[in-house]
Amino acid sequence: MTTTAPSQTQKQSPGRQGPPTRAWWKEASIYQIYPASFVDSNGDGLGDIRGVISKLDYLHSLGVDAVWLCPIYESPQKDMGYDIANYRAIHAPYGTLEDVEELTGALHARGMKMVMDLVVNHSSDQHAWFRESRSSKGNPKHDWYIWRAPRFVDGKRLPPNNWASCFGGSAWAYEEARGEYYLALFCPEQPDLNWENPDVVREVHDIMTFWLEKGVDGFRMDVINMISKTPGFPDAAVSLPGREWQPAFEHHSYGPRLNEFLKGLREVLDRYDAFAVGEMPCVNQDSQVAAVVAAERKELNMIFQFDIVDMDIGDDGKFSPRKWDANTLKNIVNRWQTFMYDVDGWNALFLENHDQARSVSRFTKHRPEHRTLAAKMLATFIGTQAGTLYIYQGQELGMTSLPETWSMDQFKDIESLNLHAEAVERFKDNKEAMEIFMRDLRKKARDNARSPMQWNGEKNAGFSVAKPWMRVNDNYPEINAQQQHGEGGSVLSYWRKLLQARKDYRDSLVYGNFELVQDGHEAVICFKRGGGYCADAWVVVNFTDSEQSWRPPAELRAMIASGKQVLGNYDDDVVLEGDVLQLRPFESRVLIAQGAV
Ligand code: NOJ
Repeated sequence: MTTTAPSQTQKQSPGRQGPPTRAWWKEASIYQIYPASFVDSNGDGLGDIRGVISKLDYLHSLGVDAVWLCPIYESPQKDMGYDIANYRAIHAPYGTLEDVEELTGALHARGMKMVMDLVVNHSSDQHAWFRESRSSKGNPKHDWYIWRAPRFVDGKRLPPNNWASCFGGSAWAYEEARGEYYLALFCPEQPDLNWENPDVVREVHDIMTFWLEKGVDGFRMDVINMISKTPGFPDAAVSLPGREWQPAFEHHSYGPRLNEFLKGLREVLDRYDAFAVGEMPCVNQDSQVAAVVAAERKELNMIFQFDIVDMDIGDDGKFSPRKWDANTLKNIVNRWQTFMYDVDGWNALFLENHDQARSVSRFTKHRPEHRTLAAKMLATFIGTQAGTLYIYQGQELGMTSLPETWSMDQFKDIESLNLHAEAVERFKDNKEAMEIFMRDLRKKARDNARSPMQWNGEKNAGFSVAKPWMRVNDNYPEINAQQQHGEGGSVLSYWRKLLQARKDYRDSLVYGNFELVQDGHEAVICFKRGGGYCADAWVVVNFTDSEQSWRPPAELRAMIASGKQVLGNYDDDVVLEGDVLQLRPFESRVLIAQGAV
């Protein structure tokens, strides 16, 4: 148990006078669907678009305003659809173009929006453009991708530079037919498009227009920060000594023409009043973020910024550990919450997606008796900040990461498999290092997010009548939508209340500014949403599984006495003991002034 000194709230951000301008995409809560694992409607073991259509009432009753579909385009599926072979056709096992049109129409009929994934840093190597590009040096598409001559060292042929691929190995792959290497920052079957070629840029704009004409309301733009690279492709600085291939984010995470390219995308979006959220790993300098999201810049509406989901990643790559506590989290949240107010930008709030492990497993000590409380605490923490809220399928049920007993042959993801194979080689003489790696892989592997959605306690969790493409998490009899539906105390019911609260108290919870209580407490996170132009709302969460004795600031103590509770994950009313709150494991409370709307 910890007792702290009286808290101080941080002073208000100086940059903004009055509330942010309003927009549908700021108020929306967006539900992310991983099509392969959502619902299988035709009994082939793989989710599909008609499966999504069958669950629209569920989504509507959850209270989400938009659906973001991970890629459903024609693809050989080397990276689960993030390798697109035809941007205007649908991967046949997922359905047809007509199915997508029906889905868009059905969403619109419910007043909901449709967001597609736009993957244009790279295509599949099976795309007609790449087949042509790789065929010879003289073909019309010869410079649609990034080709460079080999280096020769002591007569040995080597890639043009030392850049590492994000999925392990060199970022360059050799093509005999051209006697050259092409750049592929992910797997070799995902060649990077050459944005320096205006024909490529035009084609991307045409693809966007194709989908916008079909009624799509916006795009999530995959690794969009990587589309411009440092000219000349210099070697990356050595950050992993002793390794042949080095992370090269300084050369491809924010290239010199990025802002210009983004402005071009914005012009297309603006013709349709559509919005874009850009995925931007490894971009966290103030000036860079501001240049992309400040409203006056007319680039992107918001970005997925990775500081929270990277806070437990160590120096030795994704599957190496790093320690963090509630203060780490507070610093990150405070930085980006206040920053977006200052620059007139907007945050994209997320704790989970298809690339991240389940938050309740990764960020809390989720002993079974605390899982429900912990999942509600995380929902409160992320869902009461300023920004557009993203919910990943199953997060609303408190779905967990994969069981620790599963062997590697249950893992399907190319990143897990490649990095695991590399580690087996690297640590062949170091059992302890391999154990640390494995613990971390289990903690952070993308597979954790990709097991089928748990709809009910029946065969295959109600996901499919056939053997699912990926094994269902063993805990589906205890964690599933059917059992949580209509159960007042469930994680699902809590998410419904949270999403409703963001609508009922939109002025405060969506548009209010953010003031962190900066008391350095290692377990309790508390912030105020307000700013003088709306009612103040207070949020307090205990991030740990132990009881915390915590002294709220005077303003919050007054609110406890006079305000009303909007949300709480314990049934009783919040009560002060003198000046102190006794917070039970994962206890979370949201309070607002009486009469506030
Ligand atoms: C980010 C996507 O979210 C991830 O799933 C994919 O593997 C890479 N980009 C490459 O497209």
